[in-house]
Amino acid sequence: MKNGEITRYQKIITENNVGVANHNKEKNYLIPEGSPIPVFVKLGIFTKDYKVVAKMHDKFKQINRYLELLSDIIKEYKENDDIYIIDFGCGKSYLSFAVYYYLSVIKKLNVFLTGIDLKKEVVEDCKKLAEEYGYSGMDFFAMDIKDFVPKHKIDLVISLHACDIATDFVIHQAVKAGAKHIFSVPCCQKEINKNIANSYEPILFRYGILQERVSALITDAIRATVLELNGYKTDISEFVDLTDSPKNLLIRASLAAHSPSYLKKKREELNDLLVRVDAIPMIVKLLG
Ligand SMILES: C[S@@+](CC[C@H](N)C(=O)[O-])C[C@H]1O[C@@H](n2cnc3c(N)ncnc32)[C@H](O)[C@@H]1O
Repeated sequence: MKNGEITRYQKIITENNVGVANHNKEKNYLIPEGSPIPVFVKLGIFTKDYKVVAKMHDKFKQINRYLELLSDIIKEYKENDDIYIIDFGCGKSYLSFAVYYYLSVIKKLNVFLTGIDLKKEVVEDCKKLAEEYGYSGMDFFAMDIKDFVPKHKIDLVISLHACDIATDFVIHQAVKAGAKHIFSVPCCQKEINKNIANSYEPILFRYGILQERVSALITDAIRATVLELNGYKTDISEFVDLTDSPKNLLIRASLAAHSPSYLKKKREELNDLLVRVDAIPMIVKLLG
């Protein structure tokens, strides 16, 4: 065989394997395609015969990945347990409805899920949908995240792509309420980007795209550390593939006790970093 033929042959094998791998992965989704969920049809995620609408494929994948990561902490709950959840910056609430469906219908928990978003019409639509499909544990409020006052304890705070410092207000609200778990996928961090060019490594920040990405990573590292300092065990993991969305990091935090020496070390590390970035980001102003 000539080299070119080998390459072509290998390419076919690789593509087929990838195809099979993805297909198998999708078959293992917690809410697989074909699940008879009428509200997903109304939301435009599924067609009438419960196939994923082509342009919603990425969102469908994100939702399933989110559920997969949530399922780790859901093991703490058993059938008929109450669980109080807030989705901050819920938007059209694809995620809220999916989480509600998964936890109430599949896991059989008593779910109380509140969605918060600035957009009045979107919130009205979500309320109507919840009513139409008998999702009595759901409610929605049109308001700023920072003005929300919870009426109950909160078990879980979720947020998917709350823009820029909205994510900081999400974390602040969650910590204030003593939420047991926080799952937040940030997006469009701009704050540190404004200051950092003068203060960090000039050679790195000669290129706008690098500055933007490093600033976003530093912001998330600061958020995670502030969460640790506020009594959470925190990690940051890849949420979906980078090729599916560049906004693909999930900050995951669960209440945990830390030793004084661990906290002292974290505080020193954070202070050093803040000096280097020459900024006091919102999360530090709120919870620092
Ligand atoms: C990129 S969308 C994501 C929507 C949804 N979570 C999703 O993933 O489909 C961000 C949402 O956050 C909302 N939002 C941004 N800042 C907010 C704030 N301070 N208070 C409440 N909602 C906010 C916006 O109105 C928007 O609906």
